[in-house]
Amino acid sequence: MKAILTVEQLTKTYGRGDSRTHALRGLDLSVLPGEFVGVMGPSGSGKTTLLNCISTIDAPSSGRVLVEGKELGTLRGKELARFRRERLGFIFQDCNLLDTLTGLENIALALTIGGVPAREVEPRARQAAALLGVEEALEQFPYQMSGGQQQRVAAARAMVTAPALILADEPTGALDSKSARLLLEQLSALNREREATILMVTHDAFAASWCRRILFLRDGELYRELCREGEDRRGFFREILSVVSELGGDGTDVL
Ligand SMILES: Nc1ncnc2c1ncn2[C@@H]1O[C@H](COP(=O)(O)OP(=O)(O)OP(=O)(O)O)[C@@H](O)[C@H]1O
Ligand SMILES: [Mg+2]
Repeated sequence: MKAILTVEQLTKTYGRGDSRTHALRGLDLSVLPGEFVGVMGPSGSGKTTLLNCISTIDAPSSGRVLVEGKELGTLRGKELARFRRERLGFIFQDCNLLDTLTGLENIALALTIGGVPAREVEPRARQAAALLGVEEALEQFPYQMSGGQQQRVAAARAMVTAPALILADEPTGALDSKSARLLLEQLSALNREREATILMVTHDAFAASWCRRILFLRDGELYRELCREGEDRRGFFREILSVVSELGGDGTDVL
């Protein structure tokens, strides 16, 4: 199967001279279509840097990132903007909904900008909201929604364009445990039923246990990889915790 995402010898160095930080030191990874992959690792291990390099928010110092075989570093201007809008979906910890738009408008925006015919926009936005269980928030503005609803609206917005790859950085970080669970259940359903490919950074072993595969980073390098066999999420959770403790954390706060 052809990889959706390929990262080759990715390095990222911030600063210069004495204040140099090697955030990524030659990382290789690939993600196949339909995978749900977690990225874990101690604070400062390079997780957000990795996601930012993949999403083109940040430029790698060296190495390549390919999405669907296209090298992102070669895209410019409008072509890059279009690629990001159509092929990538983003979910951040602070979900970046636009305050002046309703839930429906927030979800629909990517379609409208992308030139989807007007009659298709609302049905598709409603369908995405239904998939994430946030129909009740469609007519509300972000300030009227709970944190969990905002995050699920953000997830609906991320997947409404049917992107090749959804990138999520600590999507459950600001949520209480019930909302976090709901979002994870829905991301996991999106992955199973729609075969959405998801790369999710998380410091939380419980959140990570919903993934099929976890990449552990340490000091900008790949430290370990774990794969979940079958549906045994609890067993996987314990395995994750043991790697987390090897890395020196308790799986909830330190990582
Ligand atoms: N814009 C920047 N300028 C300078 N250094 C940076 C910048 N962004 C990240 N770093 C450094 O790069 C390293 C990796 O940071 P990164 O944000 O990727 O870590 P992380 O694994 O996401 O950590 P956390 O779990 O705390 O979010 C850290 O040492 C950080 O201080
Ligand atoms: Mg981070």
